Amino acid sequence: MKLWGGRFAKNTAALVDEFNASISFDQKLYKHDIIGSIAHAKMLKKSNIITEEEGKEIIEGLENILKDIEEGKVEFQISYEDIHMNIEKLLIDQIGEVGKKLHTARSRNDQVAVDIRLYLRDQINRICEKIKNLLNTLIALSEKHINTIMPGYTHLQRAQPITLGYHLMAYFQMFKRDYLRLKDCYKRVNMMPLGAGALAGTTYETDREFLREELDFFGICENSLDAVSDRDFVIEFISDASMMMMHLSRFCEELIIFNSAEFNFVEMDDAYSTGSSIMPQKKNPDVAELIRGKTGRVYGNLFNLLTIMKALPLAYNKDMQEDKPPLFDTVENVSICLEIFDEMIKTMKIRKDNMKKATKEGFMNATDVADYLVKKGLAFRSAHEVVGKMVLYCVQNNKTMEDLSLEEFKDFSSVFTEDILETIKIENCIVSKKSQGSTAKQHVEKMIREGKRMIEVLD
Ligand code: ARG
Repeated sequence: MKLWGGRFAKNTAALVDEFNASISFDQKLYKHDIIGSIAHAKMLKKSNIITEEEGKEIIEGLENILKDIEEGKVEFQISYEDIHMNIEKLLIDQIGEVGKKLHTARSRNDQVAVDIRLYLRDQINRICEKIKNLLNTLIALSEKHINTIMPGYTHLQRAQPITLGYHLMAYFQMFKRDYLRLKDCYKRVNMMPLGAGALAGTTYETDREFLREELDFFGICENSLDAVSDRDFVIEFISDASMMMMHLSRFCEELIIFNSAEFNFVEMDDAYSTGSSIMPQKKNPDVAELIRGKTGRVYGNLFNLLTIMKALPLAYNKDMQEDKPPLFDTVENVSICLEIFDEMIKTMKIRKDNMKKATKEGFMNATDVADYLVKKGLAFRSAHEVVGKMVLYCVQNNKTMEDLSLEEFKDFSSVFTEDILETIKIENCIVSKKSQGSTAKQHVEKMIREGKRMIEVLD
């Protein structure tokens, strides 16, 4: 018989059993479910709702079940619907009648809420560790490439020369924000719903503060109706994860482009590339492409859950059981993407020469020529026009700025002197950046210093 079978005159249809059950996926929560149940049993004991002896039996029973599950000795059953009732059934089978007391002063509604929160706390910590690894990798690569010159782009058109170290430190900022966002989300996850009962609280003199302390939550969900209806913290997590995937995806997109023969700025290691079943010469950046693809999947998970929740009346509705597949899928994909991405960028080859060569074309020093003229007294808009005409002249005559003689410069403006020939050197375009946070070496060094300091204080 079902654990809730008392009110029913006949069995559920077999198809409904299958349809209703979440055990196929929520078995992932077994450990957190047991941790939550042990805390609950301790609280029942402490509050004299069950006896010392009963509490002890229940707790020992739960610990044995945990061990059995971890040793692969347990087969969960669809007929017991979900992880909560499967474990409760195992407990009753193991310790008999006293096992039936565990569910006193509790509902699956506050139980599942506490399980998800316990699970998500662990996962956020794990994911943050992975982000931290990536931040360290970015710092190490930036230090190594603080002098590696490459084109900076806007509209994917060559814009101004920058260094690879600077480019990588831009991503550092993004992943730093992702880390901080997840840590902030953790605060909302870290609230304790247990003790809310089904929706209205319970008639027992429970001790929610004890539960809070036992499960190491920061606070207690204040309103029990909210405690069992709330999945904001899951949505917030998937939203933060989506943002992080967006950053990984942009990075991957760049690497895919840079890895192409047309750019040839980087080469993915063989261990992080795959071949073609038909074209023998191919070496494809599949890993980067898959991360880009999985970003869509994580966004989908976000919309999935937002849509599930959008019209739900308070409190629990069975729709909410559907929160777990998108949550688990997000956790799994974000974790693997972070890990594999970190290794992929650690092992890729950087073709410094090709990066530098690419800065020679495309008039990447044009802005510096305009700035030169401004320093010689022209208004910026006038300087812009002069340099625009110079670029047009070069394009028409198939020349670069560096090909122009001082005389040719002077034809465009009389204020040009010998020093323009130094100003337009690509290296100097980088060195001469003065503003805080620029691509000039001393500013990138500062970013790296701040970055390291920040990583040290991350909890
Ligand atoms: N398996 C359910 C879920 O994941 C547990 C909560 C069930 N509560 C209920 N009142 N049916 O949402």
